[in-house]
Amino acid sequence: MSVFAGQYTAVDDTEDASWFISFSDSVNAIPEYHGVRQSLIEQLGSLAGRHVLDVGCGPGDDTRELASLAGPAGRVVGVDLSETMLAEARRRGGPVEFIQDDVYGLSFPNATFDRVRAKLVRMHLLDIDAADDELVRVLRPGGRLAVFDLDFETLALDHPDRAATRAFQPYWADHHKQGWCGRQMRRRFMGRGMTDVTITPHTMQMSYGLFRRAAEGAVAEAVAAGVLDSVEGFLRPLAEADEAGVFFASLTGYVLGATRSPAA
Ligand SMILES: C[S@@+](CC[C@H](N)C(=O)[O-])C[C@H]1O[C@@H](n2cnc3c(N)ncnc32)[C@H](O)[C@@H]1O
Repeated sequence: MSVFAGQYTAVDDTEDASWFISFSDSVNAIPEYHGVRQSLIEQLGSLAGRHVLDVGCGPGDDTRELASLAGPAGRVVGVDLSETMLAEARRRGGPVEFIQDDVYGLSFPNATFDRVRAKLVRMHLLDIDAADDELVRVLRPGGRLAVFDLDFETLALDHPDRAATRAFQPYWADHHKQGWCGRQMRRRFMGRGMTDVTITPHTMQMSYGLFRRAAEGAVAEAVAAGVLDSVEGFLRPLAEADEAGVFFASLTGYVLGATRSPAA
């Protein structure tokens, strides 16, 4: 296969960058993501008139929602590494500045923003420590940070072959650059001096179509390593379950809310 979710760090270098826009739209259409967006907004606190940064904004639908809450007195900036994502975000419109920037070295001075948000970004990053440093650096003391990432080891997959499923699980978790970043959030941000840290779990169900798109690369890696016989052999019972209306897969992610210490 040519593209997969693990390539979110280099969308513009892939054969089909539009795949990532469509995949993001499919993910955000999962009903439980409404609760994730609400939880992130609650953790950010009041947005009216605030200066807000959405890091790794993708097609920017969430960023537009933040802008509607920030209102005309606010200023909302969406940054992304991918020009393809930014072009789509600008095409969709809204009172948001969409700027190309890299979370490993954001182009803003220290303490620029009242609110910083990153959803489904950190889990794709090789150097998550550098990114977390930057998220905190651009937040003003007393400002609020809200992030959401999945924890891929939480996959619950109803597959008839329990042994094959258990063999597949580590390939699925490690296929993602930060497969455990959900469970590590509290430690990472408390270690950066953040206070009032709360973690809220959210469990998302996946359709077979979405699971297949997300999992094909990891299944292929498990086949190459010799722990599964074939990609189709593993996926076929899941497709059959889907046809019978009984497919089930879920993943848990975590919303972190935190305040940058006023003393910082
Ligand atoms: C899974 S998408 C999430 C998009 C959006 N936040 C959402 O929830 O729909 C991850 C986004 O992070 C962006 N990204 C990846 N690496 C980045 C980096 N180093 N700096 C900024 N953005 C990055 C990708 O281009 C992509 O748009």
